[in-house]
Amino acid sequence: MLGSSPWFIDACRRRFGDVVTFRTLFDDRFVMVFDPALVKELFQGPGEQLRAGEANAMLGPVVGQRSVLLLDGSEHLRHRRLLLPPFHGARMQAFVEAMRRSADLEIDSWPVGEPFSLLPSMQSLTLRVIMQAVFGYEPGPAEEDLRRRVRAMVEPLARPRSLALLAALPMLIGRGEPALNDRFASARRAVDEVLFAEIARRRSLGDEALSERDDVFSALLLARDDDGERLSDQEVRDELMTLLLAGHETTATGLAWCFDLVLHSPAVHSRALRREDAYLDAVVKEALRIRPVIPAVGRVVRERPFRLGEYVIPPGIEINPSIRLMHRREDVYPDAGAFRPERFLGEDPPDTYAWIPFGGGLRRCLGASFALMEMRIVLARVLERAALRAAHPELAKVQFRAITLAPRDGVVVVQDRGFVSSSGEDVGS
Ligand code: HEM
Repeated sequence: MLGSSPWFIDACRRRFGDVVTFRTLFDDRFVMVFDPALVKELFQGPGEQLRAGEANAMLGPVVGQRSVLLLDGSEHLRHRRLLLPPFHGARMQAFVEAMRRSADLEIDSWPVGEPFSLLPSMQSLTLRVIMQAVFGYEPGPAEEDLRRRVRAMVEPLARPRSLALLAALPMLIGRGEPALNDRFASARRAVDEVLFAEIARRRSLGDEALSERDDVFSALLLARDDDGERLSDQEVRDELMTLLLAGHETTATGLAWCFDLVLHSPAVHSRALRREDAYLDAVVKEALRIRPVIPAVGRVVRERPFRLGEYVIPPGIEINPSIRLMHRREDVYPDAGAFRPERFLGEDPPDTYAWIPFGGGLRRCLGASFALMEMRIVLARVLERAALRAAHPELAKVQFRAITLAPRDGVVVVQDRGFVSSSGEDVGS
């Protein structure tokens, strides 16, 4: 099921139809859905009956129990409302410069004439962007220190076969058992130390100073619930950790795939070099279609049975729309295996419920517009400044890494000639 190609799930879909029950080592029973109309019913269903927080429980030891990812019902809505404003429209324009600068720092560090892997560079880039946009850090030693600590915590989880580690963490945490657990716990402590110290430092600045800042960190410290209560330090920490983790590994992986696809498609590459926003947007969307970063999302049925088309799903069962297979439906995406950004350019772009790299409904990814904008800006900047080509004739193999579907070799590329400096001067090779 977690192999590089979804042939097994696809075979099940062809044999059993658009709603299929599976049983695996990790789940006693869950139902996969492959049909846009049924996915629409699911995404529009009530949040307290269809619980995404419960489906995300495995992330608890990493992001914390008070993370928006783990909450359901009214608590989820309250946290989501607190986090949403900076991720919308005009407010996001403030992040454009941080995104471009972060791309420049990475491009400046790339070798010329030697193969190198793009994924680690994209991870530093996207993490730096989150830390500036969400936390209000400027590049420098404090930002670098936190970035190093976050990567040290994420790396063991972002390896192949780490799903087993993630699944085992809730059982291991607190038992003082294997070395693996100790290593994860101490890496997490190293991040927490910095976050809690920064929470204390900012609280000490007072409300007036905080309200003058426009980062999400300060907004979380100022937020009050209906009873006038503030978020506790632990709640603020859990949301910061959520944004750090949900916001960077995913976007970095999406970007690495985007470059892999563009560099293997001469027609797309040459048109993308013109750097028209509408076309680059379509490139990013098509990349997220053909290489979705997250393979599926989940909703656990509670309280009463949920009617899904002609089926009745009992409480306790998780329903999983398969993003990976939905994006390969030939009836929605003719010649679905081909990388064709034009699909997203015409009058009739794919339906909201057939293109779901960011999930949907009440739980749709909070950073979707942020991620799409960041991917477009980074793509444009790299095309402008660096002459990259793929190091291998084949596209990278897809590898499942606990949560994401990542390129196995991280997308190896070569920069042919010297880069154009960020001020526009050609630096030569
Ligand atoms: C290409 C990049 C990204 C991808 C593919 C992605 C994908 C997803 C998916 C599939 C979900 C679950 C949606 C559902 O259950 O229906 C999600 C949730 C979430 N994402 Fe993203 N994401 C990306 C970038 C970001 C960024 C940049 C941020 C923040 C800065 C972010 C923050 C979140 C949060 C907070 C949630 C939880 C929303 C909730 O439960 O209400 N993500 N994301």
